[in-house]
Amino acid sequence: MPRPARVNPSRQKNPTFTRPQKPKGDHRARQPAHEYALEALPGLEEVAAEELRGVPLARDLRGLRFWYPGDPERLTRLRGAVAAYRVRAWDVPRPRGLLGHQQLGELTAFLGEVVRWGGHRSFRLAAAGRESAVMIRLAEELSRGLDLPFDPEEGELLVRLRPQEGGPGWEVLARITPRPLSARAWRVCNRGGGLNATIAYALHRLAGVREEDRVFNPMAGSGTLLVERALLGPSAAMVGVDIDPGAVACARANLQAAGREVEVAEVDALATGLPPRSFDLIVCDLPWGDAIGSHRANAALYPAFLTEMHRLLSRHGRLAVVTHEIRLFEGLLRDQDRWHVRELFQVYSGGHHPKGYLLSKR
Ligand SMILES: C[S@@+](CC[C@H](N)C(=O)[O-])C[C@H]1O[C@@H](n2cnc3c(N)ncnc32)[C@H](O)[C@@H]1O
Repeated sequence: MPRPARVNPSRQKNPTFTRPQKPKGDHRARQPAHEYALEALPGLEEVAAEELRGVPLARDLRGLRFWYPGDPERLTRLRGAVAAYRVRAWDVPRPRGLLGHQQLGELTAFLGEVVRWGGHRSFRLAAAGRESAVMIRLAEELSRGLDLPFDPEEGELLVRLRPQEGGPGWEVLARITPRPLSARAWRVCNRGGGLNATIAYALHRLAGVREEDRVFNPMAGSGTLLVERALLGPSAAMVGVDIDPGAVACARANLQAAGREVEVAEVDALATGLPPRSFDLIVCDLPWGDAIGSHRANAALYPAFLTEMHRLLSRHGRLAVVTHEIRLFEGLLRDQDRWHVRELFQVYSGGHHPKGYLLSKR
């Protein structure tokens, strides 16, 4: 038997029917949206996606791609992603099609909008075959159209060309900021072995950000973990130490640039003299044995570190660690019964693939 036709309730004659109201609320939601994509370090995509879910007005989220009608400035404050891009696709079978009169005009206008907003002073192209005749021609045309120097290595406007995701054409991604988001404005002092700030952000997010935590950052280096935690919100207390006076000065300078008051002391993390159970959250980027420390020294440092942090951590406290000494660290944790261990992530960054762990007392 044929089904009775469905009646669209909004079309039913009804004396109480009124026209649908225009959406109320934030006027930005009615502005034209643009498509964006975030880039995260491999291994931290979910951290970046979780942060993106908290951006008001971001819609049609597909992993790290989304549509957004608001001011892009909000996207530059994301801390789990290394870069944010405007995205636009062209229905061309290969990049050569972007040199067509209409496509080139549209592409120049699209990039010009990004440059007007971001203030980039040069550009570069990232694409398979970027040395090809087509790419060289595209660079020349864009340089003329945008009135912007082409700098293939250091160009501030990073333009990525790649086959369209889920479509037949090619898409262009234009980084909205002249520098990556991971290059923080607060970093006025850098040191070899400094942690990528998005890894520090991820470690804190996954270890939990709690106002009541007394936070300790042994081996603070340039203070990346301290600054990123301080920017995430208040804590009951926070202190960092490093054995190297240069590192202490560097961490202090970065904290000051970030506008955060946190005590950093020149102290051996293994001999602080602090009473047991002084902290609820200890976060540490241990020496990896290449740029900082040596594998030989780490063989003695790591077990001593675990013993001392067990003493300093409160009964229900968390110890969050990032390290590239994976075999050494996991070996120590295999042969012990004092810690519960959870792997948080493994991330690929700058030729390294460190892991993050969360430990709690058994
Ligand atoms: C991997 S680096 C930390 C890098 C830091 N996360 C950053 O972003 O700059 C390790 C740091 O541990 C410090 N360190 C090594 N042994 C230490 C100890 N026993 N007590 C305190 N600091 C120590 C080193 O001086 C170095 O600054």
